Amino acid sequence: MSELMNNDFSKVMFDRHSIRQFDSTTKISREELQEMIKQATTAPSACNLQSWHFIVIDTPEGKAQLKKAAMRFNHPQIDTSSAIIFLAGDTKSHEVYRDVWQKVYEAGKIDKTKLDNILNTFLPLYEKATPEFLTLDATIDCSMVAMQLLLIARAHGYEANPWSGFDFKTIIPTLGLDAERFVPVMAISLGKPAKDQQVLKTDRYDAKTLTEFL
Ligand SMILES: Cc1cc2nc3c(=O)[nH]c(=O)nc-3n(C[C@H](O)[C@H](O)[C@H](O)COP(=O)(O)O)c2cc1C
Repeated sequence: MSELMNNDFSKVMFDRHSIRQFDSTTKISREELQEMIKQATTAPSACNLQSWHFIVIDTPEGKAQLKKAAMRFNHPQIDTSSAIIFLAGDTKSHEVYRDVWQKVYEAGKIDKTKLDNILNTFLPLYEKATPEFLTLDATIDCSMVAMQLLLIARAHGYEANPWSGFDFKTIIPTLGLDAERFVPVMAISLGKPAKDQQVLKTDRYDAKTLTEFL
């Protein structure tokens, strides 16, 4: 994996703020976008099903297409960003479940008993699952990888804005994906921040008021 430009965890995490006005002259190579996606996919996922799918939009044509389903207030971060990575949840990821765990077994990382145990315990859960369950599961997986993408972008020296202000009914076909299989989760605009802008540094509730210990 390539060396990170900003490898200071506290700077990466605590200095992250949503940026919505980017320097539109900045290009991010497809190799680097692919590398960031690869790094973000070290995220955990339910049963390691990795129910995520990435659509990278980095051309004027792609952006015009995306804008058809995006709410108007998100157009600036589409227009000015170097790229948008759209995250779709894959509700059919379990169809390769057997292969995924078979490979883990063949690599000698688990024994046959463990393999059978995993397949007999979890695969039926997914095969019998409702669309709601599969949608929720894929949405959670995508949220995990999305957060990693936001942070890895900063580690690469970029800023980002996660956004889901789009038409959830039309965005999947608008992006050319199979609506029977994929569910919309989130878009992430990436780039270098435009100069001389005021960045809103948002506050958070007092975590103590949100926490209970049992
Ligand atoms: C699921 C989700 C959806 C969001 N949708 C939008 C959006 O449609 N447009 C936008 O400008 N920001 C959107 N945001 C960004 C939030 O407004 C922002 O993360 C929040 O105000 C906290 O600010 P910060 O990111 O600077 O910490 C979204 C964030 C999340 C996690």
